[in-house]
Amino acid sequence: MNVADFGERYRERIWESHFAEDFERDVVTGLSASNKSIPSKYLYDALGSTLFEAIVLLPEYDLPRRENALLERYVERIVGRSNGRLRLLELGSGSSQKTRTLIEAAIECHEAVEYTAIDIALEAVRAAAVQLLDRYPRVDVRAFVGDYFQVLGEIAPQPTTLALFLGSNLGNYPGERGVALLRALRGALAPSDTLLLGVDVRKDRALMERAYNDGIGVTAAFSKNVLARVNRDLGAEIDLENFAHLARFEEGTGSVESYLVADRAATYSLGGGRGTVRFAAGERIHIESSHKFTHEELQDLATASGFVERAYLPDEEAAFALVLWERGDDAAERNTPSLAHLE
Ligand code: AVJ
Repeated sequence: MNVADFGERYRERIWESHFAEDFERDVVTGLSASNKSIPSKYLYDALGSTLFEAIVLLPEYDLPRRENALLERYVERIVGRSNGRLRLLELGSGSSQKTRTLIEAAIECHEAVEYTAIDIALEAVRAAAVQLLDRYPRVDVRAFVGDYFQVLGEIAPQPTTLALFLGSNLGNYPGERGVALLRALRGALAPSDTLLLGVDVRKDRALMERAYNDGIGVTAAFSKNVLARVNRDLGAEIDLENFAHLARFEEGTGSVESYLVADRAATYSLGGGRGTVRFAAGERIHIESSHKFTHEELQDLATASGFVERAYLPDEEAAFALVLWERGDDAAERNTPSLAHLE
C-alpha cells in the first residue's frame, strides 16, 4: 500500500493540528537579531527529513546504532507486561527500526497495543503510519502532526502509556525549553506511566564533533537546506555558496552547536518586500543545539519536570544511554513538601 491509497484509513487516523507555525515571522525575526538564528524545527521540511534519513546511515553519526543496540538489550524490561492495553506515545518520527523493536515487544507482552506518533513533519509521519499499519494490522496506529507543545496540549492521559522520546531529540531543547517540553509530556501521562528517553552522552570532544562533520557532506547539506528553504518558501535570494556548515562542541552550553557561517560580507533580499539581511564576513547563523547529557543533568531534569528516575542504561563506552523515568506524583510536581511523613 502506498501513501496515495491510504484514503479513508489515513483521514481518520492522522490529525493535523492547525498550529500557528509562522516560518516567515520566525525567519525574519531570527535573521534580524544581532545573534542570527533560525529555529531548528525548520530543518525538517520534506527534503530536510529525507536528508536526516541519510544522516542516520552515516558511519560518523553512530547515535542510532548505539540506541538500537541498547533497545534490543532492554526492550522487554522497558515495555513491561500486562493483560491490558499499552499505548506507545512517541515524540518524533516513527519511521525507523527502533520503533519496530518496541512495537514488536509490546505486541508480545500486552493484550492490545496502540501506537501514537507526534511529529512536525507531515510527509514523514504519513509514510511511517502507512508502513506501520501495513506491517502491524493489529496495532492501533494514530498520528498527530504539529508542534510538540501544541499537540501535547490536546492529548489526554490514558493508562497505561509508555512515552518515547528517542534519538537524543531532547538535546534540541536546551535548558528551560527542555523542562517545559518534559512537563508538557508529563501532562499527557497518568500516574505511574513511564517515559523512555534516548540521549547522547557527554564524552570526548573529537567523538562528539565527528558525528556532525561527516566526510561526504550530508550533514552540511542538511544544514544548508534550511537556507535553501528560506529561498524556496519566501523567495529570498541568499547565495548558498557563501555559507559553510560549522559544528562544534561548546563547553558553555554542553552542546554541539551547528551554524552556517558567511564567508564574505553580503546583503541579500528576503523576497516579497520583506527587506534585506546583512552579513559581515565570518558572521554565523545558529541553526541547531545538540545537547550532550551527563547522568547528573538528567537527574536534575527529571526532578524539575516531575519525573522519577527508574533506570539509567548507558552502553559499554558510556557514549549513549537509555533513561527510564516514571511520572512522579502531583505533590512532587508542585514542588511542595510531601505530607506523607505526618501520617
Ligand atoms: C535528530 C536532533 C537528535 O541533534 O543529533 C543530526 C539532528 N543534526 N545531525 C542531533 C542532527 C545534525 C539530531 N537530532
